[in-house]
Amino acid sequence: MSKKLFLETLGCAMNSRDSEHIIAELHEKEGYETTDDITTADLILINTCSVREKPVAKLFSELGVFNKKRKEGAKIGVCGCTASHLGEEIIKRAPYVSFVLGARNVSKITEVLHKDKAVEIDINYDESEFAFNDFRTSPYKAYINVSIGCDKACTYCIVPKTRGEEISIPIELILREAQKAVERGAKEVFLLGQNVNNYGRRFSGEHEKVNFTELLRRLSAIDGLERIRFTSPHPFHMDDEFLSEFASNPKICKSMHMPLQSGSSKVLKDMKRGYTKEWFLNRVEKLKALCPEVSVSTDIIVAFPGESDEEFEDTLDVMRRVKFDQIFSFKYSPRPETEAEHFTNVVDEDVASMRLTTLQNLATDILDEKNKMQLGKVYRVYFEELNQDYFVSGRSDNNLLIKVKGSDELLGEFRNVKITAIGRTILSGEVVG
Ligand code: SAH
Ligand code: SF4
Ligand code: F3S
Repeated sequence: MSKKLFLETLGCAMNSRDSEHIIAELHEKEGYETTDDITTADLILINTCSVREKPVAKLFSELGVFNKKRKEGAKIGVCGCTASHLGEEIIKRAPYVSFVLGARNVSKITEVLHKDKAVEIDINYDESEFAFNDFRTSPYKAYINVSIGCDKACTYCIVPKTRGEEISIPIELILREAQKAVERGAKEVFLLGQNVNNYGRRFSGEHEKVNFTELLRRLSAIDGLERIRFTSPHPFHMDDEFLSEFASNPKICKSMHMPLQSGSSKVLKDMKRGYTKEWFLNRVEKLKALCPEVSVSTDIIVAFPGESDEEFEDTLDVMRRVKFDQIFSFKYSPRPETEAEHFTNVVDEDVASMRLTTLQNLATDILDEKNKMQLGKVYRVYFEELNQDYFVSGRSDNNLLIKVKGSDELLGEFRNVKITAIGRTILSGEVVG
């Protein structure tokens, strides 16, 4: 009988990619199969996120539950960003945890498995020349890391402390991974990095120095690869060359994530984001001029220390001007070992909640208005998921989630779909060719 692995993944797409690698390594080298039933698992792993305080608090309550549910002799391991920043403390607070494996050290999973109370959390451990396993959760698209770590120092953010310094992965490794994924049937690649468009900033050895725009060009030369997506690009690095490659290269999907964080130049300065409100608006304007069909999504933090009502208004102003297609919005959450942790001009909790509600209501109004115009439009959809009740869903080039009646024959296929009904999170349509 094979051994069973229960793995919970929190956090961002990088954690999802790390989890794919962990699953594959444990399968190939140790004979593990995944299970959804924690009570039968021989190994229980949580791949954690530290970006806000809530998930960290949740970790310890969840570990307690897992400890009660585990079968006799089952091991519990903690991986990912909270593992990197809390390290040994996790074992002190939850002594039944067998090992702690940092976000930068996932390649060591089969090593720590056999050590008791191992703590591997070196944040500058160099995994940049190490090929991730080919296993993919979805056969239709492949997540590929292009860089690890982050060299920015946004004052609110813990990620540089959990994923270490930024290193670009050699281009030949990225191209090889993409080529292999295409040979296995994926038509889409999703490039990952905390600052993807800063690709090429630093390599760990002697490697061909190319920038992100050139990487996109080289990837798009791969036969059979039809779509390229990426996240997260940084507004600071959106130069004209990058925007025009984005607009003119037909393989690059026309959806851009532009993490604004705040619409106030003063708050952006306090956050050390490296751009102003004007620069952000200028980049959006340029992007939309080059590529009118583009959809734009963003991340916003409300109630950063010192944010005044007027400064929050600036964020709403950018929202109204850009009309984002999707927003991910958060209340500021103080994080350990960040600069902003020591800022004293904290915004009241109820003001923060009110701002978040105001922002989210505005985002919904904008989206409802935009959605009305979708009826009757035709999009080319790449189908990736079979849902209940004979619905198959996928995404348009500009990242709209669309479902049609159909069977698994549509999976991995492109079809033109005419929109027939509007929902807030998903549009419905019918195949027209
Ligand atoms: N590298 C990406 C961000 C990764 S973290 C970028 O620069 O855009 C994902 C999102 O979490 C951030 O964009 C930010 O909106 C949010 N976030 C990060 N730290 C936070 C904090 N301390 N409090 C609230 N939200 C935070
Ligand atoms: Fe965090 Fe800023 Fe790096 Fe993004 S760019 S991961 S927000 S430090
Ligand atoms: Fe969370 Fe780490 Fe990603 S803190 S958002 S899992 S980089």
